[in-house]
Amino acid sequence: MEQRHLINIDTMSLDWWEELYALCSRIIDNPSDFNDACRGKVMASLFYEPSTRTNFSFQTAMMRLGGSVFGFSNPASSSIAKGETLMDTIKICSAYADAIVMRTPWEGAALAASLYSEIPVINAGDGGHMHPTQTLTDLTTICRKRGSIENFNIGLCGDLKNGRTVHSLIMALSKFPNISFYLISPRDLAAPDYILQHLKRENQRFIEVTGLDAVMPQLDILYMTRIQKERFTDPLEYERNKGVYILTKSKMKRAKKDLIVMHPLPRVDEIALDVDEDPRAVYFEQARFGMFIRMALLYTMCRMPRKAPGAVKAGKGPVCTNPRCITQQEHYLPNLTRELERGRRCLFCDEEIGGK
Ligand code: CP
Repeated sequence: MEQRHLINIDTMSLDWWEELYALCSRIIDNPSDFNDACRGKVMASLFYEPSTRTNFSFQTAMMRLGGSVFGFSNPASSSIAKGETLMDTIKICSAYADAIVMRTPWEGAALAASLYSEIPVINAGDGGHMHPTQTLTDLTTICRKRGSIENFNIGLCGDLKNGRTVHSLIMALSKFPNISFYLISPRDLAAPDYILQHLKRENQRFIEVTGLDAVMPQLDILYMTRIQKERFTDPLEYERNKGVYILTKSKMKRAKKDLIVMHPLPRVDEIALDVDEDPRAVYFEQARFGMFIRMALLYTMCRMPRKAPGAVKAGKGPVCTNPRCITQQEHYLPNLTRELERGRRCLFCDEEIGGK
């Protein structure tokens, strides 16, 4: 099936991933062969939230393919500041560009954008929900460092509630064989229900623990994340949880010799600087792989023909009560939900609505 947009990683098929990764490997091995691969193509870069890696790696990816980039890294510099809706912004950018890359604090915003776009929309992070291109980066790193994506124990450590990179990575890894998940977080910051339900539905092996030290010797991959300060509504909750996990050189002594330590970055204090010297720490290489897999993604998506979006029936207000859902902000969005055994789930942000 054609992957026209990249919104949620759960739509990714393994065939699609393998093709993308093969292209990425060709780019890594022979980058100059791709210097003109996107000559004449234009990427719209809409960043409503701060970013270093995702924003810059997408921009440099497009430049290295010979294409061009326009957009903003602060929405206040666009007509959004005058009250323009997301729908109208997307209609305009889709008239000018060949692909839209967007990051927002609103969960489900990329899905909302895709409803009104003639060109592919790539989710570069939507609130605390999903970050599919970080996951492509992570899968690339695992393939390059371990040779394949199978048969390992992965520890995901930190803010699993608000960490969108973790949500996307869990969704993606559950498509690959024989992976065990160790979900390491404070109880306040455990993975959301829709992620745990997904793991159960897919018959994945997982345990939730609060301590890193005890599970460290069992891990093949340790995926550290920061406590996501910007997502907390209660500053006391952040104060209670900050600094809870700090990976140090001495903790690394308990780990396997062929462990890899990954981190989507930015780091705050959860990995001590002296761990950087350890050859098992691969997070800076990981960020570089992110540029190459985004080159492969842009190469694939910018070449798709324009396609008028289907008619969208306007809604009458928020679809769910999640204060971070895009439907709280953009009231014309359609009422997209999925039936559950009990209640329904919002298709924009994946939060359960009307559950018992
Ligand atoms: N990993 C990641 O998304 O980093 P940025 O927020 O700097 O883009």
